[in-house]
Amino acid sequence: MAHVLLSPALDRAGRPSALKIATLVLLVVPLVWLAVRFIVGDLGPRPLAELNHQTGLWTIRLLFITLAITPLRGLLRWPKLIQVRRMVGVTTALYAILHVVTYAADQAFVVDRIVNEVLVRTYLTIGFAALIGLLALLATSTDAMLRWLGGKRWRLLHRIVYLIGAIGIVHFAWQSKLDVTQPIIMAGLFLWLMGHRVMDAWVGQKGRLPSWAIFGLAPATGLLTALGEALYFWLRNGVDPVRVLDANLMLEAGLRPGWSVFAIVGGLALIALARRDRAVGRRAAPVASAAE
Ligand code: HEM
Repeated sequence: MAHVLLSPALDRAGRPSALKIATLVLLVVPLVWLAVRFIVGDLGPRPLAELNHQTGLWTIRLLFITLAITPLRGLLRWPKLIQVRRMVGVTTALYAILHVVTYAADQAFVVDRIVNEVLVRTYLTIGFAALIGLLALLATSTDAMLRWLGGKRWRLLHRIVYLIGAIGIVHFAWQSKLDVTQPIIMAGLFLWLMGHRVMDAWVGQKGRLPSWAIFGLAPATGLLTALGEALYFWLRNGVDPVRVLDANLMLEAGLRPGWSVFAIVGGLALIALARRDRAVGRRAAPVASAAE
């Protein structure tokens, strides 16, 4: 029993893993923080609605962190990172369940009303589809399910995580109404996550992208995010796309989402290059000392 409870903190050999323990703590912190704020009455006039918002935000953040683990372990030369992917993925689904439970609680658990809202409001129907996907991934996340399904079918099923990411962003943007900065930044980061995978399949060597591809992706995703933002405002509010692109260039309306995305993925590219140089340096060092 104790082993089952401790298992999230152990590595495959059954030893305590510092990385897993740290990840577990970080994953629980938002939940504890929200619980404390709820108990002391620090969540505003509609605490359940606020809990619903906060758990929604954490669901999408954790989903993106799960998706980022594969590229990050190559970029940061940190293969052990893969050990925490399942843990972060499972926690994402648990936050999604909390998100829906707090919504149901806010609706006083009146089932007819909840079902009707989910059927009638498109953004809730979309959220529901994402939830079903996350539950399917949660149910098949164990080693036993992996063996039962077989590696090929399991991998195929788990590819729906990309679809869940995409519809999660739509759900996020749809309910945001006025300020869509965060969903657009998320959409840009999602583009990068997908772009990285496409490039990896195309030019990657053993899961490692060449430097030109890592650096090329940063401005490309920043630019595509700016174009996506312009397209969004054109389709939704009829705003001239040139005006939005101009605001991006002139920075007159502050740092637009395209720049934020460029800063985040450009920063990652710089860290990746530094890590790569260090790794090359370490490999070259014994050769140099042998030559001395
Ligand atoms: C049956 C499933 C779901 C329901 C009923 C639901 C319901 C809601 C509701 C009612 C809101 C607040 C809308 C408002 O105040 O106008 C919301 C926001 C949100 N939801 Fe969901 N949702 C579901 C699934 C999901 C899933 C699976 C994700 C993530 C992948 C997600 C991510 C979000 C995010 C990021 C927000 C915005 C939070 C904020 O900006 O404060 N939701 N959702």
